[in-house]
Amino acid sequence: MKITKICCIGAGYVGGPTMSVIASQCPEIQVTVVDLSKERIDLWNHSDLDKLPVYEPGLKELVEKTRGKNLFFSTEIDKAIDEAEMIFISVNTPTKTYGKGKGQAADLKNIELCARNIAKVAKTNKIVVEKSTLPVRTASAIKSILDNTGNGVDFEILSNPEFLAEGTAIDDLLNADRVLIGGAETEKGQTAKDALAGIYQHWLPKDRILQTNVWSSELSKLVANAFLAQRVSSINSISALCEKTDANVAEVSRAIGYDSRIGAKFLNSSVGFGGSCFQKDILNLVYIAQSYGLQEVADYWEQVIIMNDYQKRRFAENIVTTLYNTVSGKKIVFYGWAFKKDTNDTRESAAIYVADALLDEKAEIVIYDPKVPESQVYEDLDYLGTRSPEENRRLLKVVNDPLKASEEAHAIAILTEWDEFKNYDWKIIYDKMLKPAFVFDGRRLLEKDTMQEIGFEYYKIGQS
Ligand code: UDX
Ligand code: ADP
Repeated sequence: MKITKICCIGAGYVGGPTMSVIASQCPEIQVTVVDLSKERIDLWNHSDLDKLPVYEPGLKELVEKTRGKNLFFSTEIDKAIDEAEMIFISVNTPTKTYGKGKGQAADLKNIELCARNIAKVAKTNKIVVEKSTLPVRTASAIKSILDNTGNGVDFEILSNPEFLAEGTAIDDLLNADRVLIGGAETEKGQTAKDALAGIYQHWLPKDRILQTNVWSSELSKLVANAFLAQRVSSINSISALCEKTDANVAEVSRAIGYDSRIGAKFLNSSVGFGGSCFQKDILNLVYIAQSYGLQEVADYWEQVIIMNDYQKRRFAENIVTTLYNTVSGKKIVFYGWAFKKDTNDTRESAAIYVADALLDEKAEIVIYDPKVPESQVYEDLDYLGTRSPEENRRLLKVVNDPLKASEEAHAIAILTEWDEFKNYDWKIIYDKMLKPAFVFDGRRLLEKDTMQEIGFEYYKIGQS
């Protein structure tokens, strides 16, 4: 089956970069990315490529190369659905904030809306690809909506979970470890899986494209993220022990990572993992396990999140304790707000929760992040609902100049591992700060000896 037109519903962190890569690698396929948000689509179409709504290294070059040729961004959702043979659903599926499964289950409202829309519009057979992370068995829900409300059109549903990490999305897509395609074990299902595999084969070797049944594919996505998050929580639990015992968590990571069975990656201790996926996917896994009566399985995975919350809380508490048990009225500067470097995404960023804890203690916080705008910082804090928007704006300021921010500061906390923080002249920063000048390094970015030689009281996660 030959695919000539693709529609992707959802122009976000997943849809935008993924479709840019597909368009750049498959010049004969016309790719249209659609979204309900006109504002977002306008940004994707902006003549200034620095205004794209998603920041990813290498993304703007791909958009520049393909936009208007075989990559289009549009709000004409129905038209794009109608024309495409293959439709990717790449909308957000946040954790439910209401009703059954509140705080755990994924909210599938957007997915269902997409399915109903596809059913309404489609006049020819379609392959529908789930890209968003979804609970196991969502494909059958989509299929049921499509089959029962469609116009007698044949739909094949595939699960093709996204494994890209933000900040390295383009490289992850171009050099994927594997692509996973789940679909029905029928002749039509096989044809659909092969059609999708054919797209990825434009740039990936065949043996990296795995085909499974649809449930295995959906579950594998949750499990991959749960295992990755578990590694971070595991090493973070050890960081607390290192701080008490004079062991150094970096040395422990290195020592265990040399064991090829364990492997060296994803063992960097930090202030805690963030991002839109890890917590959401584990909560999903916990919810699914619970709903099948597997309480021990649910408890096992929930502990990964409990440890992550502990790490963020521990970091904030250490700041308060070290600053003589009070931060009330003290200026604390955060370097970094994004959940990791090289992205402007702040979803579930540890910085949000550390700030919230310190604001409870009446600290005056100043934020500098090279990519996150002021409006996003306030939106993140307001979303928690801990205090009024006015109070958040009174106690917390966002600035553009990291050096100026350090003037008269009691402490600096490093929340994101942006490379530029390593290259600052920390002597100048030291001179501007109140003394003793404290630095709390939640990303293990700086060298302890150098910082102490300058005169800082320097605290690094996982090291006494
Ligand atoms: C993750 C998965 O890696 C990706 O495969 C999936 O598709 C989406 O979820 P992402 O959340 O974008 O990607 O970033 P990732 O690099 O996995 O980092 C997640 C969080 O863990 C970040 O806050 C990061 O700082 C933290 N982390 C990661 C650590 O604290 N230590 C590590 O060693 C690795
Ligand atoms: P992700 O990280 O999963 O890509 P984002 O929030 O970055 O999540 O992007 C999801 C996009 O999907 C948003 O731009 C949102 O406007 C869009 N969206 C959500 N529901 C629909 C829908 N029913 N139809 C079209 N677009 C939608």
